[in-house]
Amino acid sequence: LDYKISFEPLGIRINCPRGATIFEAARDAGVTLTSICGGRGICGQCRVQILDGKTSSTARKKKSYCNEQELDEGFYLACETIPLGDLRVYLPLTSLSVEQRLQINGPDVASVIDPVLAHYELDLRDYMPEKSYLDWDNLCSILKTQSIRCARADLSVLQRFSSILHSPVSTIGITVRGDEVIDIHQAGQEILGVAIDLGTMKIAAHLVDLNSWKLLAARGVTNPQVAFGEDVMSRITYALENGGNKLRSSVTTAINQLIEELTGDVEKVAELTLVANTAMHHLLLGLPVSHLGRAPYAPVIRSSLDIKARDLGLHIAPGAYAHFLPGIAGFVGGDHVAMLMATGIHDTDKTVLGIDIGTNTEISLARKRMMSCVSCASGPAFEGAHIENGMKAASGAIESVKIGRNRIELTVIDNVPPIGICGSGILDTVAQLRRHRIIDKRGRFQDHEMVCQGDNGCEFILAGACDSNTRKNICITGGDIAEIQLAKAAIRTGIDTLLYESNTNEEDIDEVVIAGAFGSYIDVSSAIAIGMLPSISLDKFKQVGNAAGVGARLALASKRHRSMAQKIAEKVRHIDLGNYSEFSSRYLKAMWFP
Ligand code: FES
Repeated sequence: LDYKISFEPLGIRINCPRGATIFEAARDAGVTLTSICGGRGICGQCRVQILDGKTSSTARKKKSYCNEQELDEGFYLACETIPLGDLRVYLPLTSLSVEQRLQINGPDVASVIDPVLAHYELDLRDYMPEKSYLDWDNLCSILKTQSIRCARADLSVLQRFSSILHSPVSTIGITVRGDEVIDIHQAGQEILGVAIDLGTMKIAAHLVDLNSWKLLAARGVTNPQVAFGEDVMSRITYALENGGNKLRSSVTTAINQLIEELTGDVEKVAELTLVANTAMHHLLLGLPVSHLGRAPYAPVIRSSLDIKARDLGLHIAPGAYAHFLPGIAGFVGGDHVAMLMATGIHDTDKTVLGIDIGTNTEISLARKRMMSCVSCASGPAFEGAHIENGMKAASGAIESVKIGRNRIELTVIDNVPPIGICGSGILDTVAQLRRHRIIDKRGRFQDHEMVCQGDNGCEFILAGACDSNTRKNICITGGDIAEIQLAKAAIRTGIDTLLYESNTNEEDIDEVVIAGAFGSYIDVSSAIAIGMLPSISLDKFKQVGNAAGVGARLALASKRHRSMAQKIAEKVRHIDLGNYSEFSSRYLKAMWFP
């Protein structure tokens, strides 16, 4: 018999199979706990407080991620704790996965129309059954009279076509892709397309009218695979240990829901494009990810793919295709290609850096019409992970910080009492600590009236217990600063390597394009102050939002953009930092603050 777990303060009661951890039982019941590592006991994000009941738990793991006070109060890691009876469990706000602020819009671009699909209205009064017994032959002759050449039809079209031909309907609409009739529908029906940006943290969908090419609506959700780990490597590890089916079905369900909500009638969607990093791409397609998890991180395929959407479990028109944009390397996927295409970085005479900051940061440099790229393991610190009071950019997160003389100004998302600090707030805090010489070049706290002694050494308190919503101090510790140093050094090493390899100085850079959700919200001057970005004039930086989603829309619109994406993927030279001889020395240097 299962045990029962009651979660406070949610008031939710779930069943927990014997032998399952609290984390697994919560995930299967749809209560998503914060997790970077996907339940492997190494991120410390899933802390819960056992109020009542017996458990088995690994004290070793518990000790390394809970401070003394939390240990006394009965805190455990949910992923390390197996109930031995019914439990009452308190979920702190910081352990509950909350809806993150998502960036789904990007730059506006004019699209050159060279449509992938063609739509025709056919007058069936031209249909003469006596010409042939075969309905398909008759359809072909009708099409031929309008100079439309089709060699084949999707099975779903053949299944419906005969009854329509023999019905009283006088006109029908058909949709043709290349030489294939992929859909047959009522005359006058709107024809829709959906462009999906499948990110590690979020899924953004854009609905486009394929007749007028207008963007009708856009919507985003958190990628439900977050419950299996917040970074790409955790998901790959989960897939290797448990198979990829759960990961795959969670994403197809989320995409199907998004399309349903956007359209109200999924069968009107005649084409879908999808951009994703290589791991998300492989997991959705059910491709093996074993090679992505170890050097040289080789993908199964890099080129673009056209697959019947139904074969992936995606619910759109039955004969419709899903087009996947090509990738560049194991950790530089179709989303980066889409970003380069949408921002025009691939087609400029200027010297431009394009950066998409995430748990894995992809960076490209365009210089003298040549392009090179790197991917940097920047880690999840900017998502708030491995940071004492870190959290995602959600309600209650401190998102910007200004330190004055004996005074701290905080901006909190939704203007509520703070519960933690998100990536942009952490970046600001470290920059301000450095500006005021509260930390030195190595990131060590200096003697200062605003620095106090905490459980694990010196810390800087941003909000006191009486001002926070957790009734605890919200602070930045020496360990947090070290995490930011690791993350910013990874990004800076990538930038420096690209500049070095193309014989370029910082001053030669004409423009820095920062894409992606995190990049949209950071204060660029803080990123420069901590040495993450080159110290060049602020007006050279452009924060463009979800450019990958715009690239997916362009590919939805035209064949020309699809072949452009393929050319970009082939043209960009990938520099593998894992095998780069100067990497360690450059990385160590980049750890220091300017
Ligand atoms: S430590 Fe439990 S989810 Fe990472």
